Amino acid sequence: MAHLGVNIDHVATVRQARRTDEPDPVWAAAEAELGGAECITFHLREDRRHVNDRDARVLKETTSVKLNMEMAIAKEVVDIAVDLKPTQATLVPERREELTTEGGLDVVGLKDRVEVAVARLKEAGIVVSAFIEPLPEQIEASADVGFDAIELWTGGYAHAKGESETEAALMRLTMGIKAGHARGLEVHGGHGLTYRNVSRVACLHGFSEFNIGHSIVSRSVFVGMREAVREMKALLVRHGPRESVS
Ligand code: PXP
Repeated sequence: MAHLGVNIDHVATVRQARRTDEPDPVWAAAEAELGGAECITFHLREDRRHVNDRDARVLKETTSVKLNMEMAIAKEVVDIAVDLKPTQATLVPERREELTTEGGLDVVGLKDRVEVAVARLKEAGIVVSAFIEPLPEQIEASADVGFDAIELWTGGYAHAKGESETEAALMRLTMGIKAGHARGLEVHGGHGLTYRNVSRVACLHGFSEFNIGHSIVSRSVFVGMREAVREMKALLVRHGPRESVS
């Protein structure tokens, strides 16, 4: 059964709307753990638009499950991660004008810079994952530069229009899982997953972690973070792949 990583960035987005001290993303992380999250995910963006350095520090001190830090490959943020030592670092592309992470990291095009960041993070004992599109060349390059895991961008599926686009996106994810496993990589998924669309990726064999943020934080406004996480966990269990009996 794939683990659920809950991305708490947008709790901090609400806080930053007023530049105050509530709601606290650290509190949200504790509630998410109580709801059954196996991983807490946060993105320390270079522009600090939501999660800030204090949040990262306190999350590290208080999180009792896996802590996954999404980050750019910039030296400043790699320095912070090496110091903070989250369980896992997921390297993502970052552009200041984007609303959220759009698409995957171009590991092929940025190979030299990515390789340096991966080596430094691994030396610090951090598991390193690449957030990439499910493309064979990106998966190969991720294995070549030493990543432990890949997180396949599920946005292609989430944003697909109509059944044939959806089927094609699911096929690319299935191939991506196979290609990742063939190179010894753990395979995660994330971006754009919601209570409405998660079932068709949850049932694919081979994902070991999903990172879901916006939809869970949105639901938590109405039912609370603990319950919102419980509901997403229940969907992953209900729709998760059946274990094959040998
Ligand atoms: N995984 C990665 C690598 C991301 O960058 C994001 C968005 O911050 C997510 C998962 C979560 O995406 P969403 O908020 O659409 O669930």
